[in-house]
Amino acid sequence: MNQTASGTEPARKMLSFDNVELYYDHVYALKGVSIELYEGETVALIGANGAGKSSILRAITGLRKIKSGQVCYLGERIDGRRAAEIVTRGIAMVPEGRRVFPLMSVKDNLLMGAFTRTDKAGVAATLESVLTRFPRLKERFHQQASTLSGGEQQMMVIGRALMAKPKLLLLDEPSLGIAPKLVQDIARAIVAISRDEGVSVLLVEQNSRMALSISNRAYALTTGQVVLSGASKDLMHDERIKAAYLGGEL
Ligand SMILES: Nc1ncnc2c1ncn2[C@@H]1O[C@H](COP(=O)(O)OP(=O)(O)OP(=O)(O)O)[C@@H](O)[C@H]1O
Ligand SMILES: [Mg+2]
Repeated sequence: MNQTASGTEPARKMLSFDNVELYYDHVYALKGVSIELYEGETVALIGANGAGKSSILRAITGLRKIKSGQVCYLGERIDGRRAAEIVTRGIAMVPEGRRVFPLMSVKDNLLMGAFTRTDKAGVAATLESVLTRFPRLKERFHQQASTLSGGEQQMMVIGRALMAKPKLLLLDEPSLGIAPKLVQDIARAIVAISRDEGVSVLLVEQNSRMALSISNRAYALTTGQVVLSGASKDLMHDERIKAAYLGGEL
């Protein structure tokens, strides 16, 4: 790991989260969390409800202020910066719960993702590549978003995030509430996006099996702390991970 595809030069550190504490009023959600992600990696964050996974993404995107610690992106501190500025630096998030604009068409939902871009030709090219990646969205391009199935809506919000042409894509539980067949499609799409577009991915999942199977490395969280981390292929066979996150069998 931490090598570029050619294996010759070390990959750049893209994101580091150093000893971060985050509170909601007086209740802590992150209690000294440190994670890192190198360019080109897919890193998974796994853990039960309330472990602090979404709080990590909110801290990265500037939606929530951290109390202490540091968040750095491509060598610069970004904690304390405004959410809109962080988006323009190349970080896009697909929030939990598939926030679609239900009364807008698929087309307009996708174009919302490009609102910070001014290069019209570039936006058209990105739209074409998103529709090629998700042919169902092409078929339903002019349909109202509320008429899509849950899995199709998830594809649409991933597509919307890609419209910003991010360097780092944050995905918050893309498999939640989706039929198993579509979970596989979404997992394959995440792998393809990372491979074809060189986008680095931070993937939050309660579906630990899926997350470990498509990520390079992973961090397991319990009540605001990282309890285990390592190569996903190793964690997949770790007895503690199996017991706590994989239903005891694999
Ligand atoms: N807006 C909020 N106000 C108060 N407490 C919050 C708020 N959002 C989250 N919390 C608390 O912070 C802790 C971490 O929440 P977070 O949403 O980061 O967990 P999560 O790992 O994403 O959980 P889930 O898998 O259920 O989405 C939880 O104890 C939660 O109750
Ligand atoms: Mg969450």
